[in-house]
Amino acid sequence: MGHYPEPRAGAIYTLQFLQRKYGHLHNEALREASALCGLSITQLEELVSFYPLLLRRPVGRRVLRICDSIACHMAGAPALLDEAVRLSGVPLGQPSADGAVTVLPHVCLGLCDLAPAALLDEAAHGPLDAAALAALVAPENTGGQ
Ligand code: FES
Repeated sequence: MGHYPEPRAGAIYTLQFLQRKYGHLHNEALREASALCGLSITQLEELVSFYPLLLRRPVGRRVLRICDSIACHMAGAPALLDEAVRLSGVPLGQPSADGAVTVLPHVCLGLCDLAPAALLDEAAHGPLDAAALAALVAPENTGGQ
């Protein structure tokens, strides 16, 4: 925390570290972050609710974020989100039955030139079509069954 001019700046990295450690930011993770950063749980909740890459709910071992902002929407993102639900067998935001992957809609990923675009964990993909999406969520790519 000594590297940052004020606690909120360091809190983002602390939350990212705890999310990598636990998979998502459960209540105990926020208590740990509070102890490390000196921010209240409420202040940390504010940060988590602002940054869509920070997750309060459990997710699969891999997270596929499909952009649903304007450029991707115009390029077919709604159909891809529907197809992702069909392929994963669960609603958006829920881990697949084997726990391998969670598909989330996401605001602009900054990959508009790849529209429709997605992030599988931290790797950018696009332009996506149904075949490319199926390959991304395939068990051999997500560690599922
Ligand atoms: S609108 Fe989809 S990445 Fe920007």
